[in-house]
Amino acid sequence: MRKITIAIDGFSSTGKSTVAKKLAKALGYIYVDTGAMYRAVTLFALENGFFKEDVLDKSALIKSLVTIQLQFKFNEETQQSDIHLNGKNVEKEIRTLRVSNKVSPVATVPEVREKLVAMQQRMGKDKGVVMDGRDIGTVVFPEAELKLFMTASPEKRASRRYKELLDRGDKVTYEEVLKNVQERDRIDSTRETSPLRQAVDAVPFDNSDMGLEEQFERIHQFALRII
Ligand code: C5P
Repeated sequence: MRKITIAIDGFSSTGKSTVAKKLAKALGYIYVDTGAMYRAVTLFALENGFFKEDVLDKSALIKSLVTIQLQFKFNEETQQSDIHLNGKNVEKEIRTLRVSNKVSPVATVPEVREKLVAMQQRMGKDKGVVMDGRDIGTVVFPEAELKLFMTASPEKRASRRYKELLDRGDKVTYEEVLKNVQERDRIDSTRETSPLRQAVDAVPFDNSDMGLEEQFERIHQFALRII
């Protein structure tokens, strides 16, 4: 079987990573969560005081970029890959609403994107990869053999994310989560550098009324047809 590149892009909280992980496991491919990389850089910016009254000091962040090291390491306990920021496992911290509320402005910075896109291209250079994000099919791997563009209604997405955060013990309201999802979509779609767009050759995939198994089965079939 030949190895291909699978790009899964789409709006916030469409469940891209859950289905991408399952697909990668079934195919024996590596899975790369590019959102985790933007989130880790955001955590770095927050920890270093680069947000002043909610405004990002872009030049301070750009100057510090060379000091940021990101690595994915396999976690035996959860059987998943965790992201490490300068040697520290930050997988849990990057999922909080504190980081979600600041990640989209960080992701508009071209220098940040340049660094992360180069890393992503290195990680996927041998194919056999499922990568999810916003610009995988348009910028990172425009030649990917299978591209999907995931959508679902904002309310569906917010309620899924809200439940996830509650399950993890975060104290958030549904309204806060919905606002975050809508705001990230707005910034992600309107930014100048690599805005969130459906690639012309991507398969649109609305999973508003689909469970994980059904999504997986359909996408797995798409992949098997190509492989
Ligand atoms: O995928 P996730 O929701 O964790 O991504 C968090 C944020 O990171 C997105 O809202 C977006 O601003 C940014 N992102 C991006 N490009 C990617 C992946 C994520 O701009 N390839």
